[in-house]
Amino acid sequence: MRDSQPSTIYLSDYRAPDYLVDKTELTFDLDPHATLVKSRLKIRRNPAVATVGESLPPLWLDGVDLELLSIAENGELLPAQRYQERDGGLSLAVEQPEFELEVQTRIAPESNTSLEGLYLSNGMYCTQCEAEGFRKITFYPDRPDVMSVFTTTIVAPATFPVLLSNGNNVDSGTTDDGRLRITWEDPFAKPSYLFALVAGDLQYVEDTFTTSSGRAVKLQLFTEPRNIGKCAHAMTSLKHSMRWDEEVYGREYDLDIFMIVAVDHFNMGAMENKGLNIFNSACVLASPETATDAAFQRIESIVAHEYFHNWSGNRVTCRDWFQLSLKEGFTVFRDAEFSADMNSRAVKRIEDVTLLRTAQFAEDAGPMSHPVRPDSYMEISNFYTLTVYEKGAEVVRMIHTILGADAFRRGSDLYFERHDGCAVTCEDFIAAMEDANSADLKQFRRWYSQAGTPVLEVTDAYDAEAARYTLTIRQHTPDTPGQKGKQPLHIPVTVGLLGESGNPLALDESGALETVLHLTESAQEFHFDGIAEQPLPSLLRGFSAPVKLHFGYSVEQLQFLMQHDTDPFNRWDACQRLALNTLQFLQRQYRENGAMQVPEALIKGYAAVLDNTSLDPALVAKMLALPSAQELAEHGESIDANAIIAARDFAKASIASALKSRFLNRYQQLDQRKPYQPSADDIAQRSLKNTCLAYLCVDGDQDGLAIAKAQFERDENMTDVAAALGALVEYAPRDEAVENLESFYQQWQQDTQVVETWFGLQSSSASFGTLERVHALMEHPAFELKNPNKVRSVIGGFAMRNFSQFHREDGSGYDFLAEQVIALDKLNPQIASRLVTPLTRWKRYRAQESKQIHAALRRINESGELSRDLYEVVSKSLS
Ligand code: BES
Ligand code: ZN
Repeated sequence: MRDSQPSTIYLSDYRAPDYLVDKTELTFDLDPHATLVKSRLKIRRNPAVATVGESLPPLWLDGVDLELLSIAENGELLPAQRYQERDGGLSLAVEQPEFELEVQTRIAPESNTSLEGLYLSNGMYCTQCEAEGFRKITFYPDRPDVMSVFTTTIVAPATFPVLLSNGNNVDSGTTDDGRLRITWEDPFAKPSYLFALVAGDLQYVEDTFTTSSGRAVKLQLFTEPRNIGKCAHAMTSLKHSMRWDEEVYGREYDLDIFMIVAVDHFNMGAMENKGLNIFNSACVLASPETATDAAFQRIESIVAHEYFHNWSGNRVTCRDWFQLSLKEGFTVFRDAEFSADMNSRAVKRIEDVTLLRTAQFAEDAGPMSHPVRPDSYMEISNFYTLTVYEKGAEVVRMIHTILGADAFRRGSDLYFERHDGCAVTCEDFIAAMEDANSADLKQFRRWYSQAGTPVLEVTDAYDAEAARYTLTIRQHTPDTPGQKGKQPLHIPVTVGLLGESGNPLALDESGALETVLHLTESAQEFHFDGIAEQPLPSLLRGFSAPVKLHFGYSVEQLQFLMQHDTDPFNRWDACQRLALNTLQFLQRQYRENGAMQVPEALIKGYAAVLDNTSLDPALVAKMLALPSAQELAEHGESIDANAIIAARDFAKASIASALKSRFLNRYQQLDQRKPYQPSADDIAQRSLKNTCLAYLCVDGDQDGLAIAKAQFERDENMTDVAAALGALVEYAPRDEAVENLESFYQQWQQDTQVVETWFGLQSSSASFGTLERVHALMEHPAFELKNPNKVRSVIGGFAMRNFSQFHREDGSGYDFLAEQVIALDKLNPQIASRLVTPLTRWKRYRAQESKQIHAALRRINESGELSRDLYEVVSKSLS
């Protein structure tokens, strides 16, 4: 337990900064153990808060793990009584409203395992400053509403020929003792969290992009020499993103150079530092031989996301970290639309909604539940959440739905114009959307402040005589920690009506086939007149709002929607509802007497989907995927891990045996050998092909395994190889699985990204990824506790993607996770605090598991002094 509780920070306590920093000049003298950082700051009293005849308040500079060497004002060393070093920073007595401050600090990048601030990754220096990492580099007002123009000079030995920072390279040379010196200048004022520095022996690929106004921008992607052949896809994605932002948002890039650097040690996916994005190598490097389709698509979307931040985040930034969704929610919405335009729109939507429903809904129902704009936090790193990101993006999407595309664009134009160069709030974003369109989003604002997932109950009535169809919708949002008695939200519900022959019905005289219902009350009726036959409603099309929707669809109605709905998302959703109903039915059977029987409806539905060759194969693959165990856990009263697994396994086996010849046909049809292309069409075909393959291998089917083995040995591209290996690991006899894994490792051991895939395949395998295996993987020479990707693939794969082994009845999975979290917290608090998530849901499980999980959490809590990150999550989960 901690001696002192970390304090809570409240949005309501926000105050504008006392001082501004007009100019920031930094000099780094790089050394692994003793990097010297000099800063020269032009500081000025913030006129917005100054009063006449006031006495000047002290200046607060954040600083963590710094060795202060000297501090001077206007060239004079300051006497000790002028400043005071305290926990988390330094307070300075101020004597004049404008002055220049020079501070020298020493830091040790080599021993920085938190991967915040300046650290080393495979011998290269890099930084990560968002959210509050800059304070680990030098004393500074490390808050996003202090924006400054940065000049950065880097001095390093000649063994680090590449020295990068934000902006333009304005000077380079050598020092008297033969070291390299280079200076970068970023003309755009920015907060410290967007600062970046990289130094290493790197190679790069280069390209150019000509903006719509005709400026040439140099594009460079830097990697360690061994990875230089894996840059092409990211470069193409970058150029597509730049074009898309011009076309869809009218946003041009603003510097002459845009750089991306790949690093192996990174807490997140990537970071949007001005002009110098830094990426987790797994989120940027790809080649057909080494990366799966999923990786190609992820790279495309992350490259876009970080690029889009140049406007939504950098040019217009956040006033404080409570406003995080201002940049993240908006930018996730932007990257999702980009990906939808580049690939299959429906499939992208299905993937995002699946993530939201499994993980964000769980977060919203758990102890860390918070609004899109949180009211308080202990550690801001804990609030880079699915709620801020994914629900935040849904909130922006709803504004788009409510206003329409053209009005939304007018709103975003006004937002960028009005706030360019400023640090603003979510309120400013909504206000721009309103002001550009004379719209009223007053009630809509509640989406930012109210936590929890709204539930919609829908009923319908048809009056044949009056030709009137009525939908009644009720909304209710459950209480969440610290928030009781929720108010009704403005919820856009996109609907269509299907006639008896499956035809879409006209909803009004204009002949519209789809409309948006604006639900604003806790209960509301919506009438449709001139409806000549009893319709079947297609509700919440495209998932028009992040809610749980209940409507008493019969099995036949779901089958009908699966076949006829003109909204592809809802077609998939009908299939999911059918599968979900089936799996819940099987769970009941399992609990009652263990004997299970899969209803015909699901098998028939799947057969029809498989036979429908006019549907996008990627959509078919999504329809044939049973809801994950994690998603099933979200439904129902208390989680019975055994029943979930038994029901899922049984359904899978029944489907596999009933539809075996169909799976085989479709597999053979789709198994065309052609050169690998990460195009939407080819990805779609491979995804259905490999879905069929997985079903063919269920329960160790000999024919299926032979096909998998052949596909594995053909070794055409990583998508097919990994899918085949995954099936072999799951279903082949143990010794064969081991043999294939071994040959795969032999082939790919030099490739970091493939080794991560290899780890993940094993740790997340229900049959293979036992706790014993996970222990063995952690002993493997390629495993590294200091590398978040390795931790995520081995420990995360087990605790978050291996439901059956993690929830083994003896509770050993929980104890293991507790032990790892405790160890990790000493190295990297951010990673520890994310990894503990599965243990925070203890209340949702049946008595025995619940007790075991709770005990594991308590063990963490009592293990000694926890980081602020972990303390916040553990203490909120226990209370
Ligand atoms: N700004 C974040 C990265 C970040 C967040 C760094 C928190 C440090 C602390 C970046 O723009 C981001 O959101 N990255 C996502 C990927 C994106 C596609 C959603 C990530 O890293 O997971
Ligand atoms: Zn982001």
